[in-house]
Amino acid sequence: MPEALPTSYRVRDDLVISPNLVLAPMEGVTDITFRRLIRQIGGCGMTFTEFIPAAGLSRGGARELLLATFDEAERPITIQVFGNDPTVLAEGARVAQDLGASAVDLNMGCPSKRVCAHSGGSALLKEPLLVARIVRAMRAAVSIPFTVKMRSGWEPERENAVEIARIAEAEGAEAIAVHWRTRSEKYGGQRRLDTIAAVRQAVGVPVLANGDIVDAPSALHTLRQTGVHGLMIGRGAIKNPWVFREIEAALHGLAAPIVDEAEKERVLLAYFDAIRETFRHEKAALGRFKKISKYFIDGIRDGESLKVQILRSQTPDEAIGHIHEHFEGLKVRAVRAPAMPPRAERARS
Ligand SMILES: Cc1cc2nc3c(=O)[nH]c(=O)nc-3n(C[C@H](O)[C@H](O)[C@H](O)COP(=O)(O)O)c2cc1C
Repeated sequence: MPEALPTSYRVRDDLVISPNLVLAPMEGVTDITFRRLIRQIGGCGMTFTEFIPAAGLSRGGARELLLATFDEAERPITIQVFGNDPTVLAEGARVAQDLGASAVDLNMGCPSKRVCAHSGGSALLKEPLLVARIVRAMRAAVSIPFTVKMRSGWEPERENAVEIARIAEAEGAEAIAVHWRTRSEKYGGQRRLDTIAAVRQAVGVPVLANGDIVDAPSALHTLRQTGVHGLMIGRGAIKNPWVFREIEAALHGLAAPIVDEAEKERVLLAYFDAIRETFRHEKAALGRFKKISKYFIDGIRDGESLKVQILRSQTPDEAIGHIHEHFEGLKVRAVRAPAMPPRAERARS
């Protein structure tokens, strides 16, 4: 019998996520331009905005409204908000609903000092009673699906994701995403999936696993080890925007689609063009190029030198020039040194 791994999950009848692969919220990355790129490539069942301060959103702040902008074709999309005041968060959720979001999500994962200092993000994990009040208020404020995303706890000695997940479910959260790291581990630590598996056992709503899912093997391993309904992918999607298609294929027992260097060059350049369109100021566009390049270029052959060149670039044109040169160089080298046939073929010929 082939093993049956889930390929979709149902939040409610009007929100079925298929494939069950979700783009994680990432500040300064998952804006409308990046999400368009992910949607065009395909394989992603739902996208998230980056976290948006509920206070600014509820005031109708221009920056916050811009962050919440999405294309109609992008659905389903979740608007994620953060804060620590139940009334303000409820108002932020209401605005997200008015903007037409498919779902609204509460951030309980952000490790940044700025956010945690005001008891927002992952600092909420230390205050279960406040979590209950926030979830209750947000749930009551909207009729669209309401979800939460969290880390596994504040620090390894105080992992309380199961407790928080139970509270969130009891107060009406309809799906729960869990990043296996605690707040104190930031982006390091040893990958542990037991807490995610425990959350999956503890609640009846769909659970998404998050953290270091970067390809088909890590995706299948996570699904098998945790029994979750779906996967949420962050940095792996910046490094390899085709990762959703690769995992979707694997879930159906198919081989990964082949993405050659010409396709990577085309996508990277088209994406940088789109960034320039969005960020009319050259400096802001260059800043975004650099942020994306740190990850994307890891997926390009001999990319280390290109990464350094882009990080040193003074203008977007200079960075784009380096990309052209790099891919031209790869083409020239491929013509001069055609790939060696596999050993078995060499032996036969
Ligand atoms: C640049 C960056 C920005 C992030 N911003 C957010 C955010 O706005 N909201 C949130 O819930 N998590 C945020 N995260 C955390 C990710 O959503 C995710 O939980 C984390 O990166 C682990 O998943 P990954 O290993 O697939 O990247 C951010 C992560 C990165 C790298």
